[in-house]
Amino acid sequence: MTLTIAREGSVAVVTIDNPPVNALSQALRQALVGAVVELDADAAVGAVVLICAGRTFIAGADVSEFDKPPQPPHLPDVVACIENAKKPWIAAIHGSALGGGLEVALGCAYRVAVPTASLGLPEVKLGIIPGAGGTVRLPRLIGPAAAVDLVTGGSPVGGKKAEGLGLIDAVIDGDLRAGALAFAGSLAGKPLPQPISSRAVPAVEPDFWESVEKAVAAKAKREVAPLRALASVRKASETGFSGAMAFERETFLELRSSEQAAALRHVFFAERAAPRPPELAGITPRDIRSAAVIGGGTMGAGIAAALRDAGLPVVLIERDAAAVERGLDNVRAIYEGSAKRGRMTQALADERMAGVDGSDDYGLIADTDLVIEAVFEDIAVKRAVFEKLSAVCRPDAVLATNTSYLDPNAISGGVSHPERFLGLHFFSPAHIMKLLEIVPTAVTAPEVLATGFALARQLGKIPVRAGICDGFIGNRILKVTRAQAERLLLSGATPSAVDAAMRTFGLPMGPFEAQDLGGLDIAAFQRKAARERGETPFAPVADRLCAIERFGQKSGGGWYDYQPGDRAPKPSEAVAAIIAEEAAGRSQRAWDEASIADAIVLPMVNEATRILEERVALRAADIDLVKIHGYGFPRWRGGPMHYAEARGLAEVAAVLDRLSAEGLAEPPCDGLRRAAEAGSFSVLAGR
Ligand code: 3HC
Ligand code: NAI
Repeated sequence: MTLTIAREGSVAVVTIDNPPVNALSQALRQALVGAVVELDADAAVGAVVLICAGRTFIAGADVSEFDKPPQPPHLPDVVACIENAKKPWIAAIHGSALGGGLEVALGCAYRVAVPTASLGLPEVKLGIIPGAGGTVRLPRLIGPAAAVDLVTGGSPVGGKKAEGLGLIDAVIDGDLRAGALAFAGSLAGKPLPQPISSRAVPAVEPDFWESVEKAVAAKAKREVAPLRALASVRKASETGFSGAMAFERETFLELRSSEQAAALRHVFFAERAAPRPPELAGITPRDIRSAAVIGGGTMGAGIAAALRDAGLPVVLIERDAAAVERGLDNVRAIYEGSAKRGRMTQALADERMAGVDGSDDYGLIADTDLVIEAVFEDIAVKRAVFEKLSAVCRPDAVLATNTSYLDPNAISGGVSHPERFLGLHFFSPAHIMKLLEIVPTAVTAPEVLATGFALARQLGKIPVRAGICDGFIGNRILKVTRAQAERLLLSGATPSAVDAAMRTFGLPMGPFEAQDLGGLDIAAFQRKAARERGETPFAPVADRLCAIERFGQKSGGGWYDYQPGDRAPKPSEAVAAIIAEEAAGRSQRAWDEASIADAIVLPMVNEATRILEERVALRAADIDLVKIHGYGFPRWRGGPMHYAEARGLAEVAAVLDRLSAEGLAEPPCDGLRRAAEAGSFSVLAGR
């Protein structure tokens, strides 16, 4: 970390250089206080520009310090010190001014930023609230309504929007340093502006707080931080500055050591580690400048859109001319939907669509860098596609399959240069879902694997490396979730009770509602294949529902009944009768929500532990990312593995032992017992 001070006439330029993101480490906080003292004492200095080296302004407090006790100087004191400086400080912002970074800027007398800058208070996304005056100064500067949006939503705003809100004083087009110096020059002879801390908070409508409280609570569900952040903004509007600061700091320190904050921090660092696995360090990926997708169905169309959104030209190959038209229509529907929902302008949607070429002629992709296959889940169809690709594509083109359950080794059997082949498992809808499972075969070259990770970065996805097994990481765990959900039904629970319990746990949807939405037939097809392999998947009720063509919403009924045109699930007497028949002779028990969640989540953890032991996943945190980004596992619980560790692995093993004694789950696997003894999954990872 360096903090340097340069002179440009009467303006001092304080430059922070603390890579990678100029986070406010203890050393930086100390240096900022030192700079204020030094420049206050220098009569030749009329104004101070605070600017950062590297890719960004101060991106916030140093999150890696949050597990330790706070060290002085504390950030609120640093901000106060800048605010009380005798010379006007001007924050010159590029990149991100987030959290503590924005709070430092709010301590400055003025703020200027480039149009591409992003400014915000993302603390709630880390399970905390701003801790250095963000909730107290912001309503004084931009009014309570805009402050509530920024503080409780956690999303940043761009430079132009910030100017509109009054968050910054000027947008600098062109060179930021020069623009900030000119701005500083224009202040000569002017009095210092009133510090934000001594400004009044604009009044609000009488029912303002009650109505935003309702809206924030509804959105936050069981996340604690957004409502606590709101309470802090409200306090700032209803009490004096110092009382509000004390309230904010107390809440910040309390939440900083909360379970939710620890979980969200875990996910924050896991997400940042995911794109750069240490085992691929130093390996250069292949360049991807063009892409093709084979198959324009649900997945192919979504993948094509994801590739287009990353700026790649895309060719969509289908079986025949009519299928090409259908495939292009599927992609068009995605862009029309995006434009309709205001996610992009119609012009942008048109431009994206114009970059998708459709054809049934493989000759068109002879020079394409990356080809992703998303045809029917049928090994013969897939192998035939790769035979054609082997014949037409450049030998260094990367070839990928989006298979869900088939063995990529088997798919790639006849591929020429098989080292360029890998699995890229997208999740539906592929242009929205963040997860990308990357599945190397036995012979995938390291630079091809690295290309998969680089592609994920290009697409803005979270990559997780998965080994080959039935369902890779995510769908393998999903099978256990579903089997457990059925076990519950046979021992006294109902579909509605199970779904409600899982929603209470934090999932957006319970396992039965989710199956009705996606369709029961896909899993039935996969169970059939498993039985042909000699496996014995457990789905007695689902099998009977499929036998009478209750496939879910699309067939008017599945686990629930549906009225035409109404997606609201209604408990089904027909399903209840099937459950009763299948449950005959089994012991029944009462289920409360917590025990239902245990009987589903802890067996997931058990399966995930096997996945870790078998090195299908390399890190427990990778499994957490899969469940959060592919299956809606609540982020604030940190993913199943973090949840299990936080709860105590010995307790997890004990609950599984009890469930297993009742015939309601498998006993803890060896790996889980070992991890329970050690208190952490780290004994299994990295072997
Ligand atoms: N503290 C510590 N490390 C941080 C950090 C932070 N606030 N923000 C980013 N990093 C680290 C990342 O872990 C990563 O480390 P690695 O290279 O060793 O993996 C590195 O910086 C680069 O991060 P990204 O890969 O995320 O870089 P990008 O360029 O894609 O994004 C960013 C940059 C937009 C600044 C993004 O990193 C980000 O959103 N950071 C978090 C910002 C944040 O949440 N700030 C608020 C912190 S809480 C706070 O300030 C409390 C205060 O109110 C008291
Ligand atoms: P889909 O049935 O919607 O689409 C398949 C498309 O492939 C059809 O448009 C069909 O015309 C085309 N096709 C078939 N044979 C072809 C050939 N020889 N050449 C060119 N095109 C051909 O299927 P969906 O759901 O898109 O699945 C595709 C693949 O993605 C499957 O392997 C599936 O397991 C996998 N997958 C599916 C997910 C989902 O949620 N639907 C999630 C992740 C992966």
